[in-house]
Amino acid sequence: MTREGKLKAAYYFFGTVVALLGFATTMMADWQHIYAKGPANTGHAKLTCVECHVESPGTVRQQLQAKAHFWLGMRNTDVEFGHAKVGNQQCDACHSRDQDSHPVHRFLEPRFKEARAELGVQLCVSCHREHIGVRATLPETACSFCHNDLKLKADPIDVPHHVLIEVNNWASCLGCHDYHNNHRRTVQKSVKQAYSPSVIKAYMDGGPSPYGTEKKYPTKEGK
Ligand code: HEC
Ligand code: HEC
Ligand code: HEC
Ligand code: HEC
Ligand code: HEC
Repeated sequence: MTREGKLKAAYYFFGTVVALLGFATTMMADWQHIYAKGPANTGHAKLTCVECHVESPGTVRQQLQAKAHFWLGMRNTDVEFGHAKVGNQQCDACHSRDQDSHPVHRFLEPRFKEARAELGVQLCVSCHREHIGVRATLPETACSFCHNDLKLKADPIDVPHHVLIEVNNWASCLGCHDYHNNHRRTVQKSVKQAYSPSVIKAYMDGGPSPYGTEKKYPTKEGK
């Protein structure tokens, strides 16, 4: 077949696929609401689906053409079809902050390779998985990936950080520090005053915030 012929055949093929996909998505739109992937993230019950599930860029025709070119080896990267993956950009629309002690973009540096692989620290949805009805998820040892050799010159707390780390007390960290440092509060100086791991667990699961409700950068309404 000539290249022209191949392209034509590919267009016909994709045309059929698109028609079928269109039909399938119309059907599925309703099913999705019925099954809706499980309960929303804490605070998200009233959000509409399209705040996060946006259309892929480009018209259907452009996507089709790009896909055909990819399949024929005329393009290096495939394109997403229909709904794009939910990324940091969607979250940013409502949760952007000028200051974040752990900004996702920072963790693209090579030295965070292991933390990326194990925790997905570069993506909001790694820790905020949305349709499982919780506020956040994080393994108890998460802080160890990056703060293993932490030593403060004049440590302000009664059991110094390096001692907590020596005994692998990673469960204590969120007892004094909120991960994004977005709550207006004073960090405790005594380990006795740290919120217990069970209080933190309840908060992560969607319970009341031990860090208080006042935020440095409040949530925005969205588009
Ligand atoms: C705040 C953002 C957000 C909102 C609002 C939201 N979703 Fe999602 N949705 C996600 C994320 C993130 C994933 C990927 C979850 C994962 O990989 O664990 C996802 C995954 C899905 C999936 C699985 C297919 C896929 O693309 O991965 C379906 C189906 C889905 N959502 C339906 C809905 C419906 C229906 C609504 C509205 C009732 C909705 N979502 C609202 C963020 C959102
Ligand atoms: C259209 C706006 C909007 C988008 C988009 C959005 N959120 Fe939210 N989010 C809210 C609102 C409103 C609340 C409830 C008010 C609050 O808690 O600040 C909330 C609450 C939350 C909470 C709980 C906050 C708390 O203090 O209890 C987390 C965590 C969260 N969102 C993460 C995300 C992530 C991750 C994404 C991207 C997948 C996302 N949000 C996308 C508006 C949005
Ligand atoms: C490595 C895990 C991780 C990643 C990645 C992550 N978060 Fe969080 N997030 C947490 C933890 C843990 C908490 C609970 C502690 C706290 O409140 O800071 C939290 C709390 C929140 C809250 C509620 C408290 C607040 O700061 O208002 C919001 C909103 C939120 N995250 C949004 C986001 C958004 C948006 C992104 C991406 C830009 C993101 N998170 C990335 C772990 C993560
Ligand atoms: C992917 C790596 C990574 C992970 C995981 C991580 N941190 Fe950090 N954290 C950093 C970096 C980088 C800084 C900035 C410090 C610097 O510039 O040296 C930081 C700073 C901090 C600060 C100082 C913030 C400020 O604004 O002064 C605190 C407190 C902190 N982290 C606590 C934690 C806690 C608690 C956890 C676990 C829940 C955690 N971190 C997980 C990389 C990480
Ligand atoms: C009893 C409360 C408490 C506990 C528990 C605690 N911290 Fe801290 N941490 C502090 C205080 C107080 C500071 C001083 C800076 C401040 O006020 O935020 C601090 C500072 C830090 C800093 C900034 C260091 C710098 O160079 O400025 C990091 C990073 C940090 N802590 C990580 C951790 C990690 C990781 C854990 C768990 C092993 C942990 N903290 C446990 C109270 C605590």
